Amino acid sequence: TTKIILDCDPGHDDALAMMLALTNPEIELLAVTTSAGNQTPEKTLNNAMRLLTLMHHQEIPVAGGNRTPLLKPLETAGNVHGKSGLDGADLPDPDFAVQPLTAIELIAQTLRESTTPVTLVVTGPMTNIALFLRVYPELKTKIAQIVYMGGAMGLGNWTPSVEFNIYVDPEAAKIVMNAGIPLVMAPLNVTHKAQILKSEIAEIGQIDNPVAHAFADLLNFFERYHEAPKWGFKGAPLHDPCTITWLIHPEWFKTERMNVDVETAGELTRGETVCDYYELTGKPKNTEVLLDIDRAAFIQLIKDSLKTFG
Ligand code: BDR
Ligand code: CA
Repeated sequence: TTKIILDCDPGHDDALAMMLALTNPEIELLAVTTSAGNQTPEKTLNNAMRLLTLMHHQEIPVAGGNRTPLLKPLETAGNVHGKSGLDGADLPDPDFAVQPLTAIELIAQTLRESTTPVTLVVTGPMTNIALFLRVYPELKTKIAQIVYMGGAMGLGNWTPSVEFNIYVDPEAAKIVMNAGIPLVMAPLNVTHKAQILKSEIAEIGQIDNPVAHAFADLLNFFERYHEAPKWGFKGAPLHDPCTITWLIHPEWFKTERMNVDVETAGELTRGETVCDYYELTGKPKNTEVLLDIDRAAFIQLIKDSLKTFG
């Protein structure tokens, strides 16, 4: 099994990543930390706790993280995820207590207590992870790898060349990408292939348990934003669950190793991930970049995982 800490900003697709981590025995979820991103830090923390309550995993320690990005003011994605950050479903209020720790303290405690290195899965802006690396450099060796959803090779979903998670905190992403830790990147190039069709969301709605029903409601809300013709999608791209899926079934992905860094000074491109596909810089190949996914197998995994709540 792979031991992970999930650092997320739920968020509809973050919710799916959490669900996959909780339901697949290949993954041991040690802790959840939340970042400001899709919504304010108060809302993303509350959403993580509502999701764990819904899925009956109140034993997972949760801590809230950064209030703002390192240098930029916080910009959120209410247009995609709604006012709550998880609009569309009736979720239970949290019925357990948040840890009396900050996100980086909980990460530190979890890494110290683990006898083996832990994988960090990051599905929001990287502020917490950058702060963690600055405050606890001695714990870097306890991080096995960082698997993140963010960035793109030649695409953007927030500006023409910038993906949302990196857009929110490019300086944090730069710190993380240059930390010398093995990285796995799920960029828009793969997540835009990980689309769920409306008919498949309807099938999830047919799964006979309250968790699957809540996820169908969430997905129907999330799908609507992606119907705009400009995207050319057939469904909704499920960005964040690509990370957990890669940990469970790496054989479903096509990947390439390359150097990835972040532009932090560009007038039009601040937050662009610069992917050295042709090895032009000679810089170390710090990242395994996911480029394609077996979409049918991925959707089947989501359905099978939701059935376990029956
Ligand atoms: C990323 O941005 C967020 O809105 C999603 O949760 C995902 O992590 C996609 O660009
Ligand atoms: Ca996210």
